[in-house]
Amino acid sequence: MSENKRYYITTPIYYPSDKLHIGHSYTTVACDALARFKRMQGYDVMFLTGTDEHGQKIQDKAADKGVTPKEYVDNIVEGEGGVKALWKLMNVSYDRFIRTTDDCHIESCQKIFTKLYEQGDIYKSVYKGHYCKPCESFWTASQLVDGKCPDCGRDVYEAEEEAYFFKTGKYADRLLKLYEDNPQFIQPESRKNEMIAFIKQGLQDTCVSRTTVPWGIPVPFDTKHTMYVWVDALSNYVTALGYGNSAYNDYDKFWPASIHMVGKEILRFHTILWPAMLMALDLPLPERVFGHGWLLMNGGKMSKSIGNVVDPIILCGRYGVDAIRYFLLREIPFGNDGMFTNEALISRINSDLANDLGNLLSRTVAMCEKYFGGTVAPTATATDFDDDLKAIVSAMPELVAKDMDELLIPQALQEIFKAIQRANKYIDETAPWALAKDESKKDELQNVLYNLCESLRMAAILLNAFLPNTAPKMAEQLGMDAAELDFANLTWGAKTSFTVHKGEALFPRIDVNKELAELAAQDAARKAEAEAAAKAAEAPKAEEKPAEEAAELEHLPEITIDDFAKCEMRVVKVLECERVKESKKLLLFKLFDGERERTILSGIAKWYAPEDLIGKHLVIVANLAPRPMMKGKYVSEGMILSAEDNEGNLTVLQVSESIKPGAQLC
Ligand code: MSP
Repeated sequence: MSENKRYYITTPIYYPSDKLHIGHSYTTVACDALARFKRMQGYDVMFLTGTDEHGQKIQDKAADKGVTPKEYVDNIVEGEGGVKALWKLMNVSYDRFIRTTDDCHIESCQKIFTKLYEQGDIYKSVYKGHYCKPCESFWTASQLVDGKCPDCGRDVYEAEEEAYFFKTGKYADRLLKLYEDNPQFIQPESRKNEMIAFIKQGLQDTCVSRTTVPWGIPVPFDTKHTMYVWVDALSNYVTALGYGNSAYNDYDKFWPASIHMVGKEILRFHTILWPAMLMALDLPLPERVFGHGWLLMNGGKMSKSIGNVVDPIILCGRYGVDAIRYFLLREIPFGNDGMFTNEALISRINSDLANDLGNLLSRTVAMCEKYFGGTVAPTATATDFDDDLKAIVSAMPELVAKDMDELLIPQALQEIFKAIQRANKYIDETAPWALAKDESKKDELQNVLYNLCESLRMAAILLNAFLPNTAPKMAEQLGMDAAELDFANLTWGAKTSFTVHKGEALFPRIDVNKELAELAAQDAARKAEAEAAAKAAEAPKAEEKPAEEAAELEHLPEITIDDFAKCEMRVVKVLECERVKESKKLLLFKLFDGERERTILSGIAKWYAPEDLIGKHLVIVANLAPRPMMKGKYVSEGMILSAEDNEGNLTVLQVSESIKPGAQLC
């Protein structure tokens, strides 16, 4: 294998702070498709994924559960329904899985930290600044947006402590030159400008140690410090190859990475801090970093704290792994954000997979069996439509390869489906059922069926990178060995005859209305169950209340400060407000919450005219699970706080307009 035929692709390493959701599967499935495609092109591929297991958040979660942090992450990574099980279910063909708690990773990180310290790129000082706990990021005052974390908009707190710093600032010019000399380094192009602007506003040194987070890799020469999680996490890309440890021996072969695939919010760490660390270590730089967009749900990034996560295990169980892989890879323009909805998923499954692909295979196989006992070979008798079909199918491999090189994954699938649609049209044009009625057209009919089998064979070889369960099923029905699903066979006519075997439908068609009704009913049942459970938990206390007291003021059971801390209350500005036509009680609000627009429905129409509330600053509970209302016509993303007195008078809580949207109640 020649030197340039190696390909090193990485996903971000995931925080095992909770079970992964379908948004996490998006990155991994995209990397998997690319890794499979490259392997089939003959590259020696190293596909790395793993988990990023240190930091305050994990430490807190473990403490909540009363287990050690290692026990906590072991369960989420290795346990039932955990990270590794999910990747197995989703057919993710990673070559290596790194955990940042692996001894070899810890050993290498400590060597890296020590080397950078000894050569003067890391120095000891005092940290004074602002720390965002959820993002585990330090910010200077000038980087804050309205006093909040510029990444997530949440509160930061002031911190002052002894700490080690990495001289990121020293590398500012070299980073800018790197981007200029290597236009492909940051992709998509639009994101590069954000990084340039970030550096030009003044690149600060990075605080790279903490004394207050014990769950981290100890700084070897000063063990009251642990390493900043991002230094630990980013290093995984080289430690997993054996840099600084003897557990692996792949560094020389695979470094530098061909591509780091990351979500857009962590692009900065990968295109500033990481290359600066590599420059300091005098190591080659990755060839490119691609920042993809997010999978959105109800208008927001899927996230556990918003409560809008979709469980990939449930989806795969209901629709099959390849249907979910196909949706993720096809529906979302790679690089941009895309929406997850049940409707879009079902529509993709029905139109592309069941209709276009599934029907083409079942019709072709059925006709081969019916008219030729299952075996067809080319004959010299062509139809007027053959050339066009052959041209489109033959052009497909090169077009798909080009799209994959440019990371245009949905377009690559589109090329394959263009050929599949062309083949379906070819059936309509040649009307094999009519040819079958005329004995003199037998050769023509056989040729038509051979052309269809050949089109399906070529499509199956390419689809094997994207739909690894489906392509072998196609091969089986076409009477091919799975080994024939090989890029070397991607030429028209490479298979000289087919003996087909009818099998099950690849993707059974879904009855959309029935399915949506069933999903809605399941959702309602889940919510009712949760509400009943919540009520049951409160019931004994309510009964204990003396009747006269209950009639006056409603008291809820006592809670701890931690219970209260779970409630995220934010100031919002009312952008629009109108009555909901179908309801006497509801007002429909468009609000700005400091980060984005939200829709909330509130049952206060009896007390307020919509125009009285426009422009006002109100308070909402921001982390309530989004709730479909009015038969799913609207989704309410939170609750507006009001106060109701004993006479039933209701007043919406308004705050001064000097309190900016996004400000959090604490
Ligand atoms: N641990 C860091 C990465 C360190 S890499 C050296 C991290 N972990 S994460 O679990 O929070 O996110 C992992 C990846 O999943 C990120 O690239 C992130 O963008 C991606 N996604 C998380 N939610 C997502 C969506 N809703 N949609 C698309 N990708 C999403 O960040």
